[in-house]
Amino acid sequence: MKTIAVLNGPNLDRLGKREPEIYGSKTLDDIASELRANFPKASFTFFQSNHEGMLVDKLSELAEADCDGVIFNPAAYSHTSIALRDAISSCGLPVIEVHISNIHARERFRHHSHTGSVSKGVIAGLGTEGYLLAARSLLDLR
Ligand code: DQA
Repeated sequence: MKTIAVLNGPNLDRLGKREPEIYGSKTLDDIASELRANFPKASFTFFQSNHEGMLVDKLSELAEADCDGVIFNPAAYSHTSIALRDAISSCGLPVIEVHISNIHARERFRHHSHTGSVSKGVIAGLGTEGYLLAARSLLDLR
């Protein structure tokens, strides 16, 4: 059985309540349920933190764990964090970056993602469906 880790960065704990006109009404728990329902043969672990160092620690822990891939929404840290960029590029795992909103159609400061450039792929603007598409790719389902 393949194991996929799902990591979410700052303010995504408030998904569903936070700016629903941008991010929709689903919560992180809803996303977890959808992943489990759509991919019953895979095992998923979930981690959310508002703290950059906690996310770095988690990636380094996953690098040593039984993990086949990572779905990561680094949220605002995508645009600022060299530490997370280095953690992704050194973890040795395929990481797919997901953004619920289309970061390229928003403010200029969101257009660049330090973390996206070292990820295997980036999905942006497809809502929470992006997490399911990332899982499908990591699990190599066509
Ligand atoms: C986000 C986009 C980021 O720019 C923003 O800071 C977030 C969420 C997204 O999922 O669309 O917190 O990563």
